[in-house]
Amino acid sequence: MDSEEIRITFQPSGRSVYVLPGTSLLEAGALAGVILQTPCGGRGTCGKCRVKIVRGAPPPPAAPSPLSAREKEAGWRLACQCRAGRELVVEVPAESTFESPHQILVSDTGAKGRFDPTARKMRFRLNPPAQDDERSDLARLCDAVGRDVEIGYDLKRALPGLLRAHNWSGTAVLSGRELIGLEAGDTTARVFGAAFDMGTTTVVGTLFSLADGRECGVASRVNPQVPFGDDVLSRIRRVREEHSALAQLQELIVEAINGILETLCEEAGVSPADVYDVSAAGNSTMQQILCGLDPSALGEVPFVQVFDRAQAFPAARLGLKTNPGARLYVFPQIGGFVGGDTVAGMVAARLDRWDRPVLFVDIGTNGEIVVARDGEMLAASTAAGPAFEGARIRQGMRAAAGAIEKVIVGDDVVLNVIGNVKPAGLCGTALIDAAAGLLRRGILDATGRILSAEEAPAGLPAALRARLVAEDGATRFVLVRAEHSATGQDISLWPRDVRELQLAAGAIRAGINLLLKRAGLTPGDLGAVLLAGAFGNFIRRSNARRIGMLPQIPCDRIRFIGNAASLGAKLVLLSADERRYASEMRDRTRHVDLSREPGFQSEFAEAMLYPEADFDHCGEE
Ligand code: FES
Repeated sequence: MDSEEIRITFQPSGRSVYVLPGTSLLEAGALAGVILQTPCGGRGTCGKCRVKIVRGAPPPPAAPSPLSAREKEAGWRLACQCRAGRELVVEVPAESTFESPHQILVSDTGAKGRFDPTARKMRFRLNPPAQDDERSDLARLCDAVGRDVEIGYDLKRALPGLLRAHNWSGTAVLSGRELIGLEAGDTTARVFGAAFDMGTTTVVGTLFSLADGRECGVASRVNPQVPFGDDVLSRIRRVREEHSALAQLQELIVEAINGILETLCEEAGVSPADVYDVSAAGNSTMQQILCGLDPSALGEVPFVQVFDRAQAFPAARLGLKTNPGARLYVFPQIGGFVGGDTVAGMVAARLDRWDRPVLFVDIGTNGEIVVARDGEMLAASTAAGPAFEGARIRQGMRAAAGAIEKVIVGDDVVLNVIGNVKPAGLCGTALIDAAAGLLRRGILDATGRILSAEEAPAGLPAALRARLVAEDGATRFVLVRAEHSATGQDISLWPRDVRELQLAAGAIRAGINLLLKRAGLTPGDLGAVLLAGAFGNFIRRSNARRIGMLPQIPCDRIRFIGNAASLGAKLVLLSADERRYASEMRDRTRHVDLSREPGFQSEFAEAMLYPEADFDHCGEE
C-alpha cells in the first residue's frame, strides 16, 4: 500500500480498498467489487449511485444535484461525484447496487442446427519419407488433413521437428481451412468452444464440447463496463472523451469473458488450453470494443460501424485465455445500432423461413426491431431502454432483489417483489403492468395523465381511489405505502414515470409502425410477433399491448423466444453452416435509420397516445 492511499470501507459487505486521494467513490466501489448503478454514466444527473457516508463525509459539492438538502445533510452523496479525501466508511443501499443476482436469461428456443463446428481436430498418421516417396513435410501433412489447408508461418517452422519427434503422427487442429495447431498423440476428444452473449449489462457464456456438441455448462456475470455507464452511448462518449477508455473497456470485457471461461472450465474439468473457438454476439459497441476497434463513430451522425461482415480474430491476440491458436468469431453487423446480437437473434429465430410476415422485437437497453417478409428483412433500432431498466423512473430500479416486478390492479393492488424482501422500487415490467392496470381502470387517460381521486370513475373501488395522492398539482398512484417499503417512503407511479414510459414504448411502437409501412404490411398481416431479449421475456404481453408498445394482435401470435442472441452465438459455434447463414441474413436485411425517416416524428407523436382497444388478457394474470 502506498502511504498516501486512503482506506474506503463499503458496508454492508465490509469490503475495503485503498485508493489515492481524489478517486471517486464509484471507482473505489468498482475496485472493491461493489458495482453501483450508473444510468447517466457518472454525470451526476440520475441520482442512482447514491450512497450514505457514515464516517468521514466530505462537504457536499456545490453543483446542482438530484439529492435534496436534507439528504446531503444526512450524509448522502452521489458516488460518481464524491471524491475520497480521507478515510471513509460508506453505506451502499441495495437499490444503488448492481450486484444482486439479475434475472439473467439462459434459456432459448432450442432451435437446432447441423453439428459441423468450425474448430475441429483430426488424427493423422503419415508415412515417413522414403526413396520412393520424397514428398515434402508440408505436402505429406496436407495430403492427410486436406490439400486446401492454410498453414501459418509459426506452424510451418515447428512442423519438421514435430513430425520427427512424434513418429510422424499426431493431431491436427483446424479452424475452417486454417491449421491452428499440431499436437502430439491423439487429443481428438479434447476440443472445446465457448459461445458468449455480451449484453450491455450482463455477459452469458456457454461451454461446449466440439467433439460431440455436448453442452458442458453455463455461467454469467454482470458486464464490468457498467461503471462506465449503463448504456452504450455513455461508453461511446467515454471513448470519445478519454484517450485510454477504449483500452480500459476492452480489458474489462476480456476479463469478464476470461472469468466466465475459467469458471466453466473449472466446473467441467476442462483445460482452457483445450478451448479452440469462441463466438460472441453483442451490439455494435460491445463487439467493436471486444475487438479493440474504436466505436467513436457510433457516437455521431451518421452512426457508422467499423465493420459489417463477420470477423474472425486470433483470440489470444485480444487477451483471451484459450488455446493460443484459438479463433474468436464475431457476428456481422447491420448498421448503426443494429448489431451482431440482432443478427444472432435473427439466425436463432430463422426469421426468413416463416410462411407469413414476422415481427422480431428485442427489448433490452436498446430496442431492435426487424420485420421479415418473403425472406427479405428491414431492421431498425430505437432508443427505448433506460426507462425499462429503471433509469429515469423516479423510484425505478433494475430487476434485482427488492424490485417490484409485477403489478396487478384489481379491486386493490397486488404486487410481486423479487427476492421475497420488502419492496425498494419498481422495475420495467412492473411499470408496464401498473400503467396498463390504471388504463383498464380508467385512472389513466389516453394522454397519459393520472386522474385525481375526484376525477376518477364513479365505480372505482375505494381502495384504489385512496391510492391517488395529490402532490404538486398532479397525482401520483401509490403502489406501496411507506410503512411496507424498504425505503420508508411510499413507492408510487409518478406522472413523470408515465411520461418516460410513453416515450420508451412510443419509440418502439413508432419504429414498428414505420417498418411495417415500409414493408407494405399492417399489424393484421403478421403471423407472429417474436419477443426476444432479457426484458422482452419478462413482460406481460397483454399489458405491453395495452400501453400500445406492441401492435393490437391476439396474444397467441405474440411469442417469447428467450435469449435469441445467446442461441445464435451457440449455433455459429457448433456449425459452420450457421456462420454462412448469419452472413446471408445480414446481406438480406436493409437497415432503416429511423431518425432520418420523414414520418418518424408524427408516428412517434401518435404512438405516445394510449390505444382505446383492449384484447384478451392472454391468461397472464
Ligand atoms: S448520478 Fe451518479 S451515476 Fe448518475
